[in-house]
Amino acid sequence: MATQLPSKILIIGATGNIGKYITNAIVSAKPPIAQQISIFTSQATASNPSKQALLTSWKSQGVTVVTGDLSNADDVKKAYSGIDTVISCLGRNALLRQIELLKLAEESKDVQWFFPSEYGTDIEYDASSKDEKPHQNKLRVREFIRDNLNRVQCTYVVTGPYIDMFLPLVPVAEDAGGFDTKSKRAVVIGSGDEKIGFTTMPDVGKLVAAALRHPEASVGKVLKVQSFVTTPNSIVAEFERQTGTKWTVDHTSNQKLREVEKEKWDANSPIATLYTLKRIWAEGGTLYDKTDNEALGLKPEDMEPLSAAVNRAVNGEGY
Ligand SMILES: NC(=O)c1ccc[n+]([C@@H]2O[C@H](COP(=O)([O-])OP(=O)(O)OC[C@H]3O[C@@H](n4cnc5c(N)ncnc54)[C@H](OP(=O)(O)O)[C@@H]3O)[C@@H](O)[C@H]2O)c1
Repeated sequence: MATQLPSKILIIGATGNIGKYITNAIVSAKPPIAQQISIFTSQATASNPSKQALLTSWKSQGVTVVTGDLSNADDVKKAYSGIDTVISCLGRNALLRQIELLKLAEESKDVQWFFPSEYGTDIEYDASSKDEKPHQNKLRVREFIRDNLNRVQCTYVVTGPYIDMFLPLVPVAEDAGGFDTKSKRAVVIGSGDEKIGFTTMPDVGKLVAAALRHPEASVGKVLKVQSFVTTPNSIVAEFERQTGTKWTVDHTSNQKLREVEKEKWDANSPIATLYTLKRIWAEGGTLYDKTDNEALGLKPEDMEPLSAAVNRAVNGEGY
């Protein structure tokens, strides 16, 4: 389809952390992005009481909910029938399942455009990126695509860290940095003056919707997009402004972060991934001379500012 607009979209992992935002943005887009929007979800999620409000709301807006097992090829083939565009929002633990999903997409007659689950750190930022442990599964998916897909075209949406997830201070990983609105305390990596590029979670949805509207700028591309660039010290200043009080700021040196990161990997701790990503972000792995926002028709004023995300955190709104 190369530069044709999508017509029938299938979203996989729609009810997950970022899938919710991506699906909401696509479902509520005006004018509509596609003629038909479907989501493919597991039976467990379809019958999960905590997901009912979301599913009911989407159904009331015309979304078709297809229930099936991602590891069952017949279920996937059925879900792909008539679909031209697939958006995968699968979680980290399910990334490698996309290889089979991509194979089935290539074999199908209908699927032409596939967004693999990325929406995060640039896994090909520089020469050291290929050795970063958290990148390995996404790198394998890209490699599979390069080596095996001819008919289906892909778009990777690289957003950097979600500011909404970056802000909270995680009790078991305080030295990895964060901002605690209750105790008015922040932990920042390094001096706190190093710049980081962020995307808000609602803006991830907006950016994927924009990519769908601009196939000429997004088909076959790795899109580097973001809401804004800021520093941890500017985030502290914004919290102080919104809470009307001075915050306590502790620092984790870059060296200390690297030491704890190594300890966590050596101990096989699942939180090691967080330390590695925080290190990559703190050391400039989210910075670009120019992003692709403009190519997708988005101006700086179209994106959420830091104050919006801080406001949600101050009001205790989850994501
Ligand atoms: N930039 C950032 O700061 C940041 C933060 C978090 C995530 N991310 C990225 O965003 C993408 C999505 O992550 P997420 O946190 O939104 O995902 P998630 O909520 O953990 O999972 C999304 C969906 O994937 C399906 N799923 C999850 N685990 C599965 C498994 N083991 N087997 C089969 N299906 C499974 C489920 O779909 P059903 O229930 O519908 O079956 C689930 O709702 C990933 O690529 C991740 O790296 C980026």
